[in-house]
Amino acid sequence: MGQFGFFRNYLRKMSQTIFGVSSKAPKPQNGSFSIKKRNLAIFASGTGSNAQKIIEHFKDHPSIRVSLIVCNKPGAGVIQIAADFDVPVLMIEKKDFEQGNMYVKELSKYEIDYIILAGFLWKMPEAFLNAFPRHMINIHPSLLPKYGGKGMYGSRVHEAVIAAGEKESGITIHYVNGQYDEGEHLFQATCVVDASDTPDTLATKVHALEHLHFARVIEDVIEGRL
Ligand code: GAR
Repeated sequence: MGQFGFFRNYLRKMSQTIFGVSSKAPKPQNGSFSIKKRNLAIFASGTGSNAQKIIEHFKDHPSIRVSLIVCNKPGAGVIQIAADFDVPVLMIEKKDFEQGNMYVKELSKYEIDYIILAGFLWKMPEAFLNAFPRHMINIHPSLLPKYGGKGMYGSRVHEAVIAAGEKESGITIHYVNGQYDEGEHLFQATCVVDASDTPDTLATKVHALEHLHFARVIEDVIEGRL
């Protein structure tokens, strides 16, 4: 191929390694490289305040974007948030979610790289765990391993923390495995539980921590800083 052909191939290989440019990516224009973005799917069942923060955080990000919202609750607030930000929504049914890999295939159409669970209340089935090893991240509104597990979500967590007389609570961001709230921890942040706190006021403090940290932690994981 000659000296110059060899050099050109070498440069192409290096740019694929450094910038993640796939051979199918559009050709560089005006001397700039096109970077293949990493696509996130956010799974959410409720209001979607964390989903919104994540969408906003990655709105103009050079290499990460929210490409899909997956929801299991018709009428959930997160559906309107997706519409406001022009993010497509995939509504899922429990039977199809738990059996087979129909939805894994659906996600592959969006070339999803990471799954983010932001208030999603179904256990992830085998098909998803196998398709996204160490590429699935959950947020939980307590300092795990305390106050986690089946049935521990939303205000139930805060009620249990207050009933136990805890002096602090917080958030845990962790990889997802086959058990509720048991995957490897990536990040925790704490807040004080005051004697006057109710489940609602504690939820507000915990939500503030979630909104402050979740998107940044996701970014750190994807970019290899965590
Ligand atoms: C968040 O507080 C999240 O930690 C919790 O659901 C809430 C969703 O709020 N997740 C769990 O309890 C999972 N076990 P949002 O819909 O406003 O983002």
